[in-house]
Amino acid sequence: MNSNQIRSKFLKYFEDNDHKILKSSSLIPHDETLLFTAAGMVPLKEFFMGSKKPPHNNLTSSQKCIRTVDIDIVGDTDRHLTFFEMLGNFSFGDYFKDLAIELAWNLIIKEFGIDKNKLLVTVFDQDEEAFILWKKIAGLSENKILKINTSDNFWSMGETGPCGPCSEIFYDHGDSYPGGPPGSDDEDGDRFIEIWNLVFMQYEQITKDIREDLPKPSIDTGMGLERVAALLQNTNDDYATDIFTPLINKSIELTNSEEKANSASHRVIADHLRSASFLITDGVLPSNEGRGYVLRRIMRRGMRHAHSLGNKEPIFHKIFPTLLHEMKFSYPELNRAKDLILNILLNEETKFKQTIDNGIKILEDEIKNTQNNLFSGEVAFKLYDTFGFPLDLTQDYLKNKKILVDIDSFNKKMEE
Ligand code: GLY
Repeated sequence: MNSNQIRSKFLKYFEDNDHKILKSSSLIPHDETLLFTAAGMVPLKEFFMGSKKPPHNNLTSSQKCIRTVDIDIVGDTDRHLTFFEMLGNFSFGDYFKDLAIELAWNLIIKEFGIDKNKLLVTVFDQDEEAFILWKKIAGLSENKILKINTSDNFWSMGETGPCGPCSEIFYDHGDSYPGGPPGSDDEDGDRFIEIWNLVFMQYEQITKDIREDLPKPSIDTGMGLERVAALLQNTNDDYATDIFTPLINKSIELTNSEEKANSASHRVIADHLRSASFLITDGVLPSNEGRGYVLRRIMRRGMRHAHSLGNKEPIFHKIFPTLLHEMKFSYPELNRAKDLILNILLNEETKFKQTIDNGIKILEDEIKNTQNNLFSGEVAFKLYDTFGFPLDLTQDYLKNKKILVDIDSFNKKMEE
């Protein structure tokens, strides 16, 4: 099943089960306290809180999301992404835990054909009701229903807002992968992969210490399209799915590089191109503050990787048509914004190449003054602050020459 089929199947399944399909909202939330839409429920917050009436009691969507907390390791792992799609079903006081579990289980077992024996679930350890329901509805044995007492099984969108206990569905990729089950010390390995989170939304966090019951217990679920695509395409690597391979192949072709498809740089280029294109579509422009700064940082990180592959000419605008081809039917707004996206990608990368060329001249001069393989933190700071030459680029450049940046003095300048 390709990713477009998975998305359609998910939405159609919930539509057939009395849900109304919602178009993805913008990546820029109405809620001014948030930088980006980071989950399917974000645009629906007022429906959960009862301050606005939803168009239907049950909704379903595939929501564009941005999460940048782990940006520094994107590329190094098989799963970290800055842009992803969250498939979700939502109920505002209509159904609760039992039907949410039944709908989820039937979809993955009957519609997606996932092997039941490879699945296990977690519940919040105080949620005995969910434990019993999983046993009854899915027929899972007790050792496949793990009780977790940490915040991993209590979902909230931030310090305030709707929240509640949750239950996660995991797929076991088998013992050829390292990693332990959820709740164990090595749970972050590649073996047990979370595919779906069912949140039993029953509270509103008003302040840090005050939590109240929501007017109606509700359901909010989130399944990462890229992860489930990996599973259904027999891989454990999001970047090896049909979502990423055309982008990575284009990156390989354009950079003419010998780096393999699973190299961090091609992954970063593919992921960051997606984030940048969708952010520009939703009205963010690169700048030096706020959302625009995040966009610029994403773009520059991607462009730095293109540069490190030995690329002399801008390439992002040349990969974009591949993304457009893959995504325009699901996200027609990408097509409407294509000229703007192409312009901005080309413009930023051209400017950034200039920055890189200038920075490298300064770096080369300073290397001559470097002693004990320790590069001046002050110069690294000046490169960053005055010339827009990022620290990670300085470090990368020096790494090949076995020189380290004096990070303490860089940090001191940064604090100043
Ligand atoms: N709101 C559900 C999730 O982010 O997993």
